[in-house]
Amino acid sequence: MRNLIDILDFSTEELQALISVADDIIENPDRYREVCRGKILGTLFFEPSTRTRLSFTSAMMSLGGQVLGFDNAGSSSVSKGETVADTVRMVSAYSDIIAMRHPKEGAPIAASAVATVPIINAGDGGHFHPTQTLTDLLTIHRKCGRFEGLTVGVCGDLKYGRTVHSLIAAMSRYEGVRFVLISPDELRLPDYVKEQFLGSGGCEYTETCDLEGAIPELDILYMTRIQRERFSSEAEYERLKDSYILNKSKLSEAKPTLSVMHPLPRVNEIDVDVDDDPRAHYFEQAAFGRYIRMALILFLLDTKGVDDRRQRGEESDSLVCENPHCLSLSERGIKKLFSGGRCVYCDQRARKI
Ligand code: CP
Repeated sequence: MRNLIDILDFSTEELQALISVADDIIENPDRYREVCRGKILGTLFFEPSTRTRLSFTSAMMSLGGQVLGFDNAGSSSVSKGETVADTVRMVSAYSDIIAMRHPKEGAPIAASAVATVPIINAGDGGHFHPTQTLTDLLTIHRKCGRFEGLTVGVCGDLKYGRTVHSLIAAMSRYEGVRFVLISPDELRLPDYVKEQFLGSGGCEYTETCDLEGAIPELDILYMTRIQRERFSSEAEYERLKDSYILNKSKLSEAKPTLSVMHPLPRVNEIDVDVDDDPRAHYFEQAAFGRYIRMALILFLLDTKGVDDRRQRGEESDSLVCENPHCLSLSERGIKKLFSGGRCVYCDQRARKI
């Protein structure tokens, strides 16, 4: 059984195969209308969502399958104190595949340890959001025709923006990709993402707080929302929330072939006057999410094999995860696992005790 916990669970060849299936679904939707008849997708959303949950629902329905689940923790027995693991054990009994979103980092790994059906990470805290990255990769492939050699600007909340972390992980595997990381100092990309995917052994990158200065060199500008829900201080959010606002005039120096992307929802970071620019691809990007999630569901339901990336951690008496957003600190009965000095659940460096 295979899962999709982070984007590196799939090889670049598997990603290319998913993109090809999604392209075929877009061209020939009728061929796919009945292929999941009798199958059930469980959607466990412990956090709000519009695009991810509804595009998964639409994807399974478009394949002829059915969907059950909840869209907030308050309407599940989690509100009575049930653990993530017990919730997933139960929903495994009622469905053939599960997509889950949870505010705690590492929740899908805890789920995959007990599930008897494939687990899809639909976003875990500020950590990863691999199915958004599938959507992003399909969009980039359809708009740019390639991944290699692209200069990708990511702008906004790079600290908490899980879509950015997954996109960097994915794109760092392609030759000649260069990142321009555009953020206020307070919201720079976390070290654990840089250490794993950028710099020596990873791809080239620069950091700046100057959006307008960076725009002319970009092939892709990936705007992100400042993630209010992850801030511990409302005053800090208020101070940083309008750090970047892309508008038509800022695009005047951009390449005519630039692709403006955004995982959505947007708040203020892209002015509506950009929406009718031919380089604005964010709404189409969100629409592509349905097709790549159809391809993903088909792949995971059809693919045998073992997902062994999660078995690599070991328990340790001398390490502790210090990330307050990691599920391993709050879930009863969870095995605390470490690999290479990092917490297996959230990828952050663990502290020696
Ligand atoms: N991009 C994204 O994850 O959107 P939702 O939060 O609406 O699912």
